[in-house]
Amino acid sequence: MAKLKVYEYPHSILKQKAAKVEKVDDELRRFLDDMLETMYEAVGVGLAAPQVGVSKRVVVIDAEQEDDGAGHRTGKPMYLINPEIIWRSEEKVCGEEGCLSVPGQRAEVERFEKIRVRYLDYDGKEQEVLADDFLAIVLQHEMDHLDGILYIDRISRLKRNMLLKKLAKFREEEKEDS
Ligand code: NI
Repeated sequence: MAKLKVYEYPHSILKQKAAKVEKVDDELRRFLDDMLETMYEAVGVGLAAPQVGVSKRVVVIDAEQEDDGAGHRTGKPMYLINPEIIWRSEEKVCGEEGCLSVPGQRAEVERFEKIRVRYLDYDGKEQEVLADDFLAIVLQHEMDHLDGILYIDRISRLKRNMLLKKLAKFREEEKEDS
């Protein structure tokens, strides 16, 4: 497995609508393994293919991971290929979100409380999941990436401008520290 480079805002690949996967084969599975490793390494709960520079409709998520005590993350990984929301609740919820492509920042985002998602799994088998709470939020965040949408596109212009200023400051400080 290999760790992949994570592309950050404002890279143009993050604005693109990703293409559907035609075939779930060993090559794609190797890519899924690399994505999962990259996500664990960055201590993220989800990662979408555009974030590692590949404009395909592929997402990995682990909403139940923890440290195994030896410095590795383990949990219940989910691999979602060509995911589609087939049902949304009327109710919405607000939760704080962050993104590996917008490092060091967080903001409150409104999402559907529950969703049902249809997707192909690691073996190319069709699956459905009814998600609520944290998993529903993570799924909506990651699936947005496949349509070129970041969570900062879903907050007010005022909040986004403030967040982008903090992001610029965060990057300056990172540079000074290294
Ligand atoms: Ni993200």
